[in-house]
Amino acid sequence: MSIASQCPECGAALPENFSGGCPVCALRGALALSGASAEAEVVMAEKPMDWIGRYKLLQKIGEGGMGTVWMAEQEEPIRRGVALKIIKLGMDTKQVIGRFEAERQALALMDHPNIAKVLDAGATETGRPYFVMELVRGVKITEYCDQHQLATRQRLDLFMQVCQAVQHAHQKGIIHRDLKPSNILVTHNGGVPMPKVIDFGIAKATGGQILTDKTVFTAFAQLIGTPAYMSPEQTGMNTLDVDTRSDIYALGVLLYELLTGNPPFETKALVQAGVDEMRRVIREQEPPKLVNLVRGDLDWIVMKCLEKDRTRRYATANALAGDLEHHLHHEPVSAAAPGAWYRVSKFARRHRAGIALVTIFVHLLATGVVISTWQGGSTQSGIWSRLH
Ligand SMILES: Nc1ncnc2c1ncn2[C@@H]1O[C@H](COP(=O)(O)OP(=O)(O)OP(=O)(O)O)[C@@H](O)[C@H]1O
Ligand SMILES: [Mg+2]
Repeated sequence: MSIASQCPECGAALPENFSGGCPVCALRGALALSGASAEAEVVMAEKPMDWIGRYKLLQKIGEGGMGTVWMAEQEEPIRRGVALKIIKLGMDTKQVIGRFEAERQALALMDHPNIAKVLDAGATETGRPYFVMELVRGVKITEYCDQHQLATRQRLDLFMQVCQAVQHAHQKGIIHRDLKPSNILVTHNGGVPMPKVIDFGIAKATGGQILTDKTVFTAFAQLIGTPAYMSPEQTGMNTLDVDTRSDIYALGVLLYELLTGNPPFETKALVQAGVDEMRRVIREQEPPKLVNLVRGDLDWIVMKCLEKDRTRRYATANALAGDLEHHLHHEPVSAAAPGAWYRVSKFARRHRAGIALVTIFVHLLATGVVISTWQGGSTQSGIWSRLH
């Protein structure tokens, strides 16, 4: 970030040798008094061809609970298209950028084909934080699966790539904290669908004050937008207590949605219920089983991700992907209660051809034994009758 002179309150860039009150704070104050924060957004809104730092805004490509996303062009030191996300009013810009800077080194170490890189961060002239990311030309994973009417197998293939991306990030010490369909876009690479996880590092930078107070709940619901993907521990007061297993929970919600069409708890119902009930549901209520839709392994795998007690979830995204591999290869999955019958049936399914051959062989053998016994019997009875 390179701002010569900044407002100590909101972080807005100020003209050099500026004295007196910050105009951005004054405007915000006036609009807040009149309850017109939406108007504030309009007054301060960016438009195409505006410059933000060294990025030229081209076209608005998305709008989330937290801000607006633009397709933009970077001219120096390299010319490239980027996605630029400008955070809405209401966040402490300095804190947001400070938290991002703290994680920047770790973010730079992430290098995975299924992760969109976060390239830069800064503050707009009106003092709002912005993030610059790799531009992904794709649609969100749930939409992609539905548009292309993907079968379960293909959905699992995409999901397992997401697991690999998350595993990579975790190994580099980065937790996403906000995994959900709108943060996983599917693009095409040589005609092959390829999921890309976006917004790595952003939830941590922008989510410092989540749910610390009932009064921020409305703002929280608006900002985060998707409590459906929030793990039980993320609804707590202590945001420091979040670890990689919160991402495993969110992966479970995503898998649930990819397989059934809906997350286990709908965001709208959670938000409407109010903060206490939302917390209770996420922390205590068992998610509806998938059993009528996908039986056995997949149900168990999803439920293991959604365990309220995080020590009972998969310890890593790799372990989760591994269990899906087992399922696809008809091997026993670790999420199942391993009864003898379950293992035998998996063995039988895995070696179907071999078992069919053995069965035919045993059958032939048995028939042969019966025939030869019968023939032996009739020969003996022939000899016997001749002797008599
Ligand atoms: N790096 C990117 N490349 C391409 N499109 C993007 C990128 N980042 C975001 N978008 C688009 O912008 C939309 C809004 O993104 P944004 O992250 O602001 O909101 P969200 O993920 O829906 O919700 P939240 O604000 O809770 O993160 C996305 O759904 C996506 O379509
Ligand atoms: Mg997002």
